[in-house]
Amino acid sequence: MKRFEGKTVLITGSTQGIGAACALRMASEGANIILNGRKFDERGQGIIDQITAMGQQARFIAADVSDPKNVIGLVTSAIETFGRLDALVNNAGVERNHDFWDVTEDEYDFVMNTNLKGVFFGIQAFVKYCRANNRPGVVVNMSSVHEEIIFPHFAAYCASKGGLKMLTRNLATELAPLNIRINNVAPGAVATPINQHLLETPELLNNLLKNIPMKRLGKPEEVAAVVAFLASEDAAYVTGSTYFVDGGLTYHYEEQ
Ligand code: NAI
Repeated sequence: MKRFEGKTVLITGSTQGIGAACALRMASEGANIILNGRKFDERGQGIIDQITAMGQQARFIAADVSDPKNVIGLVTSAIETFGRLDALVNNAGVERNHDFWDVTEDEYDFVMNTNLKGVFFGIQAFVKYCRANNRPGVVVNMSSVHEEIIFPHFAAYCASKGGLKMLTRNLATELAPLNIRINNVAPGAVATPINQHLLETPELLNNLLKNIPMKRLGKPEEVAAVVAFLASEDAAYVTGSTYFVDGGLTYHYEEQ
């Protein structure tokens, strides 16, 4: 029995990186997928083609999820597309590297609106749908190890993921009576386009690897496996948690 047979999953920012890996993993387990990105391009078509080849259905809905109006529209269109929505994976996220004293309001808004505000109102739209139809639901938020550990020069990013940590803790309690579970996945360093600069700079990469007990970056598929677990009935008693997928980075200890 496939874990997502007959189910529909919406994954934001899902035409590359971790989001694309989540889409492929959940489709391989029977889900129909709503893909999202700011605009449709050949990457989206490529993921649709792979999902179709697995015998599942996939549609792309363009929406910039940093704007609540757009993310509410995305959830509504996703529900209309396959007539149901069982799980929401809030994956889209952005980061900006600046000294704290140089961060502009535009950069702050760009990061916070994408990583937190849009997520907040996307979950709200999904919860309204579940409540109105008396349906269970599952939410998985793509957080980061930086909901827990510091990342100098990424203050807005840390604030957004820290906010996501408390949003999830809070909503787990508020949504449990509605039979809606919500959890975070916190990747460490994963080889995706967001880390292009790191991947191309051996000095930065080697410094980072010193802090990772497993001495390697994660693969998008390794994050997707945990997302699929949390979205599935295998995690029926899991809510309000963060699952770290970080090769030991968060709580590593360097032996002297
Ligand atoms: P990525 O940059 O490869 O992919 C992110 C996707 O989201 C892109 O397709 C992008 O176009 C889309 N996106 C960004 N803003 C959007 C918006 N406003 N509306 C719609 N789509 C939007 O990044 P990656 O690495 O796959 O990251 C995915 C998530 O994982 C993010 O939330 C990120 O913060 C988180 N993460 C990633 C880590 C890593 O090492 N790669 C580590 C910790 C967390």
